[in-house]
Amino acid sequence: MIKNTSSNQYYLKEGKIGFLLLCLFILLGISHPGKSIAIIPQPQEVKMGVGAFKLSAKTKIYIPKEYADDLKPYLTSKLKTDLGMDLQVYSGRKTGSNHYILFEKSVDISLPSEAYQLRVDPDKIVIKAGDYAGMFNAFQSLRQLIPVGASGEINIPVLAINDQPRFAWRGMMLDVSRHFRSKEFILKQIDQFSAYKINKFHWHLTDDQGWRIEIKKYPKLTQKGAWRADREGISWWQRSPAMAEEPKPVGGFYTQEEVKEIIEYARIRNVEVIPEIDVPAHSKALIASYPELFCFEKSNFEVAVGGKAPDNALCAGRENTYQFLEHVISEVAALFPSPYLHIGGDECDKRNWLKCPHCQITVKDQQLQNVEELQSYFIQRMNAIVVSKGKKMIGWDEILSGKGAKGATIMAWRRGMHSPEIDAPRSGYPTIMTSFQHSYISQVQGPNELEAEGPKGIVTLSKLYNHEPIPQELTKAEADLVLGTQACLWAEFTPTPEHTEYMLYPRALANAEVAWSNPAVKNWSRFQSTVEDHFARLKRDDINFSRSLYSIYGSYALDKLNQKAMLYLLTEAEGYTIYYTVDGTIPTSNAMRYDGVVALKPGMTVRAGLFDKDGNLLSSKLTELKLK
Ligand code: ACM
Ligand code: ZN
Repeated sequence: MIKNTSSNQYYLKEGKIGFLLLCLFILLGISHPGKSIAIIPQPQEVKMGVGAFKLSAKTKIYIPKEYADDLKPYLTSKLKTDLGMDLQVYSGRKTGSNHYILFEKSVDISLPSEAYQLRVDPDKIVIKAGDYAGMFNAFQSLRQLIPVGASGEINIPVLAINDQPRFAWRGMMLDVSRHFRSKEFILKQIDQFSAYKINKFHWHLTDDQGWRIEIKKYPKLTQKGAWRADREGISWWQRSPAMAEEPKPVGGFYTQEEVKEIIEYARIRNVEVIPEIDVPAHSKALIASYPELFCFEKSNFEVAVGGKAPDNALCAGRENTYQFLEHVISEVAALFPSPYLHIGGDECDKRNWLKCPHCQITVKDQQLQNVEELQSYFIQRMNAIVVSKGKKMIGWDEILSGKGAKGATIMAWRRGMHSPEIDAPRSGYPTIMTSFQHSYISQVQGPNELEAEGPKGIVTLSKLYNHEPIPQELTKAEADLVLGTQACLWAEFTPTPEHTEYMLYPRALANAEVAWSNPAVKNWSRFQSTVEDHFARLKRDDINFSRSLYSIYGSYALDKLNQKAMLYLLTEAEGYTIYYTVDGTIPTSNAMRYDGVVALKPGMTVRAGLFDKDGNLLSSKLTELKLK
């Protein structure tokens, strides 16, 4: 039982009064003592009480007038889809009613931005927050207290939540270049992310395989740059380059009107949309559209179709590169209200710069030591452009090389290969953690043989969940420069919307909790069971989530001398039982139970599945091993 210091009579206190009250409520059949709640991300402080608030069609909801334009339609529509009820939402002062939900603007200035208090009593629910974001977040927690499929009169347990985010940056990145996703798909994901208090949507809009945003001054960026030859169905790394005369049917882009619609939809959901225009490299789609921005005279560029994309860096020496980018950034900056603009800066192959006369003249004129410093020069010019448009520049951690990138915010992705997660904050850069090892959800989430093709590496739900973004090496002052953390979905291996969702969920929920909840309230076992509870919500929202949590990792060691094969079966999911067969049949809960390493005969074929206590198979993807 959670200890409670509140004086409110409805909260359980240790001792007799609490016990008597508990008995009374149980006798009256109106309480859920001990029933745990399933909120993701886990709030910082929850005090469970006794009893319930009864939500019904008669419940009135009051919201502050100043937020009515945004909050009223949002609340009304969510309550309708969650509950199938048309609840009345009133803006302004509460009148008369004694059974209500009240959103109250707090005058408590100690309440940080996005924080909220949510108190459920038997006769009322009161939400207090200092800003719109806090109200929105409180509502997400409240929604998650309503059981899926509930209708009629719904019991919401008496409780008190005090909550605020650990990090201000709680991001999700989606690459729409490698595979374009429709406006409707983007809206659906923003809606889902926001339900888990994700507040930044990093939109990777340009790359070698497609330019996805309309730029009015440069129409060829989308006339040519948004379309590529069809190599779908062929493994990413096996694709032959596109030919000039081939049709280019694969792709798509967002018009500026569509971008505005997405930004507005996100704003109502407390999600800021940060555009990424990835330069100087990852720019094959741009170069295919405007080849004059390449180092050398060459005109037969095509948008990349997959595999490696050589010659994908813009010329860093030509002045017209900067003029062009200034116009692009100008349009993008005007479109997106975010204070940030991401310019990429990653993975630049600088070999052409070594040979290019324009690049070499710039190296000489600017007294640069090498092409690493030419990259810094390029990044500093980009920074000047971005700042001149009233924005702050973000770049991937490569922009630290050479002379650094004064004024930039860094996305530290190469943790484990380099140490940007330490170097960037230590050098005074505001830093967002995007560790490829922990947060690149383009990697598969289960055993390779049970998942579709992907990049090397596995990021299981628990690996992402247990990731601690702040490295131990940082001092408090350095750690304060960490703005937050973000999961990234690169899209080389996600050809369909269904597969994109499969990769996003449920790992987006783990990322949300890493970003929101303090380490002290995180716990894998609880998170696992909460996520399992949320599968019903994802299903209700028509999300194609993965059940790889239930996959079994199988391996064996052969002992030829003794004619034995030692079988190892592991799962990240806790609380279930593995059953397996050795005769090629599909296992049921009547098969052999796996209780630890077991010695089998070489030559056998093991098939294993994970089962719940009622004997239900949790994932249809069985692990199969031939002990040879
Ligand atoms: C990256 O993964 N190239 C940022
Ligand atoms: Zn050049």
